[in-house]
Amino acid sequence: MEVKVQLLGFGNVGRAVARVLIEKKAFFKRRYGLTFRVVSISDRSGTVWLPEGIDLREALLIKENFGKLSAWTNDYEVYNFSPREAVREMDADLVVDVTNDKNAWEWHLEALREGKGIITSNKPPLAFHYGELIGEAEHSDLPYLFEATVMAGTPVIGILRENLLGDTVKRIRAVLNATTTFILSRMEQGVDFERALRQAQELGIAERDPSGDILGIDAGYKATILHCVAFGPITYDEIVVRGITEVTAGEVERALVRGKRIRLVATVEEGNVRVSPEEVSGPLAVSSNENVAVIETDLLGELVIKGAGAGLKETASGVVSDMVKAALGLTGA
Ligand SMILES: NC(=O)c1ccc[n+]([C@@H]2O[C@H](COP(=O)([O-])OP(=O)(O)OC[C@H]3O[C@@H](n4cnc5c(N)ncnc54)[C@H](OP(=O)(O)O)[C@@H]3O)[C@@H](O)[C@H]2O)c1
Repeated sequence: MEVKVQLLGFGNVGRAVARVLIEKKAFFKRRYGLTFRVVSISDRSGTVWLPEGIDLREALLIKENFGKLSAWTNDYEVYNFSPREAVREMDADLVVDVTNDKNAWEWHLEALREGKGIITSNKPPLAFHYGELIGEAEHSDLPYLFEATVMAGTPVIGILRENLLGDTVKRIRAVLNATTTFILSRMEQGVDFERALRQAQELGIAERDPSGDILGIDAGYKATILHCVAFGPITYDEIVVRGITEVTAGEVERALVRGKRIRLVATVEEGNVRVSPEEVSGPLAVSSNENVAVIETDLLGELVIKGAGAGLKETASGVVSDMVKAALGLTGA
């Protein structure tokens, strides 16, 4: 079966997804009988649209050499569509949103109303509009999948949404932001907060504007999404978030003396989500790029899921897995 895909966003994750689609084309065909035909790609400069399918290698070359898709004028038409127009105007089965557009929920709804399934790695639409979006997807009987929004490709969403269906989740405790883990780990080695943050930026782990990570906003979005999946809708505005900016070298050191580490921990219980730095030991004391979630349920007890929490290949793993899942759902497989 051939599945027509609109790719919105051609930044780090969008290009990583394109690379997987190129490299594993034969695998998808052999293993699932699936061919993904990317009919449009959008960045903020414009939308390239070719119903017969875009050459992804060329798209990568253009974006990597010229920085914008609108530079691609010889072979393809570049349209000046807003995302809303793009999802309305073009024929496709799936819309893959790998933008950082905070207002993307509006065009997610539009796409669902147009009969298109959604796959996304973009957190704010879910952290603020989960109920509406899932309601529309269920009403339209279309996939709305978002594995890569939390813990990159580590399938915590899949476990909560598709497994444990007879369990009652009691609580989730999780470390969901790798940048803060990096900074706190550096502080354990005697580096002060400012220098640890600068190192994270130099290594490309933290963004130039690091506030989303260090203030706990990113972890807060993810914790909100976990609550939505495990317990039902809640919005980011209803949760309590404290970042790591006030953590001192002394606190980190005193925790270490007690055999503990300070990590930015999300605690998710029904109707109650908080994110704050806490002293932890055991599975929550992750280091490096890893994220971890400890899911407590009535029947299974404690389930620990640990794996990559960021990275491009790792995030593409979550996005592409959702694309396959959605495509197989469309075929009724
Ligand atoms: N990087 C990770 O490890 C990771 C992990 C999990 C989730 N995510 C999420 O995945 C998304 C993408 O991340 P990223 O690292 O790829 O970000 P990025 O490199 O900044 O890419 C964002 C892309 O979205 C495009 N874009 C933004 N608004 C748009 C709009 N209204 N219409 C069309 N295109 C638009 C940008 O266009 P221009 O190229 O023209 O700027 C860019 O191509 C974000 O929501 C991020 O939070 C990232």
